[in-house]
Amino acid sequence: MITGARTWPRLCGVDLEVPLADGTTRRYVNLDCAASTPALDAVVSAVNQALPWYSSVHRGAGHLSQVSTRLYESARQAVGDFVGARPDDSVVFVRNTTDAINHLAACLRVPSGSTVLTTEIEHHANMLPWRRLGSVEHLPPPRSAAALLESMDAALRAAAGRVAVVAVTGASNVTGEVMPVGAMAQLAHRHGAIISVDAAQLAPHRTIDMATMDVDCLAFSGHKMYAPFGAGALVVRTALVADAEPLLAGGGAVDFVTVDDVLWTGMPDRLEAGSPNVIGAIALGVAATTLSAAGMERIAGHERELLARADRGLAGLRGVNRLRLWDHPDVDRLGVVTFTVDGMHHALVAAALSAEHAIGVRHGCFCAHPYITQLLGIDAVAADSVRISLRRGERAGIPGAVRASFSIGTTEHDIDVLIGALDELITHGPRLAYRQDEHTGDFLPLGDARTWPRFDGLPPLETAGHTAGCGQF
Ligand SMILES: Cc1ncc(COP(=O)(O)O)c(C=O)c1O
Repeated sequence: MITGARTWPRLCGVDLEVPLADGTTRRYVNLDCAASTPALDAVVSAVNQALPWYSSVHRGAGHLSQVSTRLYESARQAVGDFVGARPDDSVVFVRNTTDAINHLAACLRVPSGSTVLTTEIEHHANMLPWRRLGSVEHLPPPRSAAALLESMDAALRAAAGRVAVVAVTGASNVTGEVMPVGAMAQLAHRHGAIISVDAAQLAPHRTIDMATMDVDCLAFSGHKMYAPFGAGALVVRTALVADAEPLLAGGGAVDFVTVDDVLWTGMPDRLEAGSPNVIGAIALGVAATTLSAAGMERIAGHERELLARADRGLAGLRGVNRLRLWDHPDVDRLGVVTFTVDGMHHALVAAALSAEHAIGVRHGCFCAHPYITQLLGIDAVAADSVRISLRRGERAGIPGAVRASFSIGTTEHDIDVLIGALDELITHGPRLAYRQDEHTGDFLPLGDARTWPRFDGLPPLETAGHTAGCGQF
């Protein structure tokens, strides 16, 4: 029996009504939570409480500066506690997971000729930054957790000590499988490598204990953890980066500067050049404490039950093809269902769910192109033609899938609404006619009666572009 959203910490905007293309309104069903979650009410309230006290941190002598500094540092403590950081770890506030991994890859010193071992299922954020550090070996998508460990072990053995970093995701953002992080850490360490975990998806949904799992570096984002105020965290063994040349050079990261020298300061300030995002850090700290109090195991249980319901619903629909890495019943999977619909473009499915049913899902390639192309069976020739279309600025034929993903605010009813909407879409087709925008690949309903909300202090949304963000597919 699922406990229902009301027993969970409340989320901001949970009862929001949004327009449908026919001009009516309906409660928004947010099933795009793997991309970004709504804010926790507790986070919004803490931010409002902190704002009057907001001032510069660390060097200000004024009382507000001192309060702000303590707020910032207590948020650091809360974030460290949330992931089981050890006393010799540093919690660095960054913008998001991408920022965290870029900082890390820029800072780590590895012996020349060493390699980063990763997998082909990674998000681009845990793939591209490592290419700058040195050579990267990608393990193919594994058939099971055991197969992943086997292939990792074999690669580490074959590299004979040349793998400096094992960089892996904690859970797939495309298909939701939870990775055997602790076992991968053991393997990495046995072969003299460190392990860096992309916890963008894991952190909001599963307990993380860096000490028990023996994880060296961990990256995650506030906006996926109910704290969308622009902060994320890199938690790292201090010794690994204590002598590093930071990626960002500037004030706050130094002890002393002359015209021809710089003495970098200690961690974590060394990696936090510039004025930090104090409010974002507070938001992340409060989210961490609120999720811990709600119980990460309870959250995982709630999402597993929702997933089982979604699985049953999707299994009953003709023409829906699930994309999964591992299919065994005992696989631990986040609240993520990714699928294609026979004969229907992924962008059309997503557009119709939004315009006709007020359901928000994500579609496209989920910033994991190597993985999604394999899941969709796109061969090298087809991949080349995608590349050619993109160079021409044409996105209409871009392959992809639809992803529905859950949060602590998702209810059984939300899942049923999704399944009902898909059933209608598959059985009768979209209610409306759509045209596809060649540039974005998006489908737009004809005769769309939706209007935009007004926000004080900003130009009307009608005048705002919608094409920036094409690189997010
Ligand atoms: C597994 C994974 N890693 C990294 C990222 C990047 O996160 P951000 O955009 O917050 O930097 C995402 C975002 O979807 C993700 O799902």
